[in-house]
Amino acid sequence: MSGPASMSLSSDAPVGDGSRVPAAPSRDDLVIDVRGLNKSFGDKHVVVDLSMQVRRGEIFGFLGPNGSGKTTSIRLMCGLLTPDAGAGTCLGYDIRTQSAAIKRHVGYMTQRFSFWDDLTLRENLDFVARVYQMDDRAAAVDRALHELGLTGRARQLTGTLSGGWKQRVARASCMLHRPQLLLLDEPTAGVDPNARREFWEELHRLAAQGISVLVSTHYMDEALRCHKLAYIAYGRLLAQGTAAEVIAAQRLTTLEVRGPDLNAFVLRLRGMPGVEQTAAFGDTLHVTGRDRPQLESALAAATQGGGYRITPVDTGLEDVFIHLMQGAADNWAPEASGRQRAA
Ligand SMILES: Nc1ncnc2c1ncn2[C@@H]1O[C@H](COP(=O)(O)OP(=O)(O)OP(=O)(O)O)[C@@H](O)[C@H]1O
Ligand SMILES: [Mg+2]
Repeated sequence: MSGPASMSLSSDAPVGDGSRVPAAPSRDDLVIDVRGLNKSFGDKHVVVDLSMQVRRGEIFGFLGPNGSGKTTSIRLMCGLLTPDAGAGTCLGYDIRTQSAAIKRHVGYMTQRFSFWDDLTLRENLDFVARVYQMDDRAAAVDRALHELGLTGRARQLTGTLSGGWKQRVARASCMLHRPQLLLLDEPTAGVDPNARREFWEELHRLAAQGISVLVSTHYMDEALRCHKLAYIAYGRLLAQGTAAEVIAAQRLTTLEVRGPDLNAFVLRLRGMPGVEQTAAFGDTLHVTGRDRPQLESALAAATQGGGYRITPVDTGLEDVFIHLMQGAADNWAPEASGRQRAA
């Protein structure tokens, strides 16, 4: 296999513990570097001018509502889909022309579980190891089973596992060949909180070893565990950076309201100047907008004589994502064709 032009990658270079890692990239340590990616399915423009960079050792979170284009973007970035326009590299390999090399070097955990139900865990993992043409298959499978706490279940039929355990098998299999980049598409959907916490600790251990992770998720707590985030809606990247940067960039004010009958209170707020969004959090309500004086006046008017308590709170990531989603026009709606997204 020939390496990419921009960096030297040798998967055949064993390191101290017998595993094999690629040599360090020479160009800015970018494991994903894509620019201007576009993809349409029929007349649906699913990924629009996507540019994204992921650095070595970074955990990069990919967020956005259902159908926003996360899975499609991931598939473009690893060469499984060819973009209609745009270019870039993944682990230094060209996403248009070197997809076979990319597939060998990344660990891709697809959103849907895809194993043979009537094979045991060991058999399924062994099959994956064969696909990767690993010469130390049995040891690699043993190691994966051990690392994910699956040794006791090695002979269990995969189809009889619960959903959360199937997720673990999928994760084990995408890490089998010790890839330097993990593309994880909602790896913890339906996984219990304890298993999710362990999984994220594992991701941070891997990142500390220089392994990079692009992970899509709908969980806010997971978003906060990422080094960097990107938020996508209707195929457009609307925000990118650390959680603090993403929050700060939107310049939102959030006021927390406590008091009686918040459902009726929300109806009173509807349409008031300055009130851009409301979101219930337990027995409190977050009211958010860009214009602080207007927001405060609206709340003062709406709460008059009602026994409400209003407290300014830090705008959270969830408030920001709701705001971004509401501000994004549906460019896939039939009447929206040709229309620009609202600012
Ligand atoms: N092969 C395909 N053919 C036609 N349309 C597709 C195809 N793959 C995806 N789409 C459409 O592209 C859009 C984006 O889908 P995608 O799966 O990338 O979204 P997503 O952000 O991963 O969503 P989710 O959070 O639900 O996983 C959707 O409208 C989907 O129906
Ligand atoms: Mg998806």
